[in-house]
Amino acid sequence: MRPFVVSRKSIPSGLVTLAGDKSIAHRAIILSSLCAAKTELHNFPLHQDSLATINVFRKLGVDIAQQGTKVHICGKGLFGLLKPKQPVFVNDSGTTLRLAAGVLAGQDFESTLIAGDALSKRPMKRVNAPLRLMGADITARIVDQEEYAPLLIKGKKLKGITYTLPVASAQVKSALLLAGLCADGLTQVIEPLATRDHTERMLKLFGVKVKAGENKISLAGKQRLVSPGRIFIPGDISSAAFFIVWAAVIPGARIRIEKVSLNPTRSRIISLLQEMKADIKVTKSVQNGDSEPMGDILVKGGKLKGIIVEHEDIPLIVDELPILMVAASLATGKTILRGVGELRVKETDRINSMVENLRKMGADIQVERSGEDEDILIDGSGKLSGASVKSFSDHRTAMSMIVAGLSASGRTSIDDTSCIKKSCPDFIEKAKNLLEDTNF
Ligand code: S3P
Repeated sequence: MRPFVVSRKSIPSGLVTLAGDKSIAHRAIILSSLCAAKTELHNFPLHQDSLATINVFRKLGVDIAQQGTKVHICGKGLFGLLKPKQPVFVNDSGTTLRLAAGVLAGQDFESTLIAGDALSKRPMKRVNAPLRLMGADITARIVDQEEYAPLLIKGKKLKGITYTLPVASAQVKSALLLAGLCADGLTQVIEPLATRDHTERMLKLFGVKVKAGENKISLAGKQRLVSPGRIFIPGDISSAAFFIVWAAVIPGARIRIEKVSLNPTRSRIISLLQEMKADIKVTKSVQNGDSEPMGDILVKGGKLKGIIVEHEDIPLIVDELPILMVAASLATGKTILRGVGELRVKETDRINSMVENLRKMGADIQVERSGEDEDILIDGSGKLSGASVKSFSDHRTAMSMIVAGLSASGRTSIDDTSCIKKSCPDFIEKAKNLLEDTNF
């Protein structure tokens, strides 16, 4: 692929509408498949990861018809999935792999989940170990005591457990809750730090009784799911974050983002940018009961200031950290991001990818050990300079660097942006639509 070249052009202005949120989309497919009824999904995102989940559940015998962004699912019930004829490919979608492992652990058949090269390097013990405590029989590839895909899952009768998550991970929590749904007895997940709660909300939407207290989520196994009929998936706030930061750092910019997810376990990026003095207003907000809150936001360009982000906020912005590092580099003053070690095990090591790239663009950015974890320190000078940077085959590094290039002086070239198909294939087109001169 030819490098993608960007520079600061005209001022972004206009309306952005985004495909449905990736995390919500995965859960909508999974729970609709486990519910013995029809469910219709609207604003379904047509990117690689969400399509991977559709593909997996089709291979498990679920009838899923997709017409544009509308998806019709004729679910099978909790124990109605079929043994797949061949190993099932989850592509590079970590959420698909981890949540599917939770579902398959309690089925009465054997299955194998295989992953793409990048996902096959990401840790799976965090999911496999607690599933085994529930009675699961999972064999993984083991390297240096860590576990990786492929996973051979021999379905077993599971029993509920109480489990405290050692890492704040919504994927692990969700895998355990989905396994708990197929298990006997009560499953309780205790999370030391709050993580995104889409699984809990989606379970409730399907009529499952879930108790979510302070930091403990409990559900009784073998509850029947009742379809809500139709689900609208709000726009993806993690994709929105790239447009929000871009508009927030260009004086004179003015963009509106419609029907975007405002789930409080995901929208912390908005309040943190507001603390950095970004001019962002929520102009409309719809709460939607147990379902997913959403709304419209208006972003106007200006100047940002550095802030301190504490470790308990990190799980709430885990996917927005790369673009927040860009914002902090373009702000003036010090930003500290405390406890960001989980970034090392995302699609790429995002500490490494972002630090290397932003340094090339002139940012003053350091990484410091802090006990078991790591902090990032950025001394923002208010500007970045164009450079030749790399996506590291990671969609969020790529989109962060496009925004950095659109906000920097000079030309920025990004080696390979094809990876953005993972979560936002039309990102470049949407960005161009906000410019008068659509030539990057
Ligand atoms: C996700 C949870 C996060 C996030 C990922 C999607 C989810 O991962 O980084 O992109 O949908 O549950 P962890 O829960 O492992 O931090």
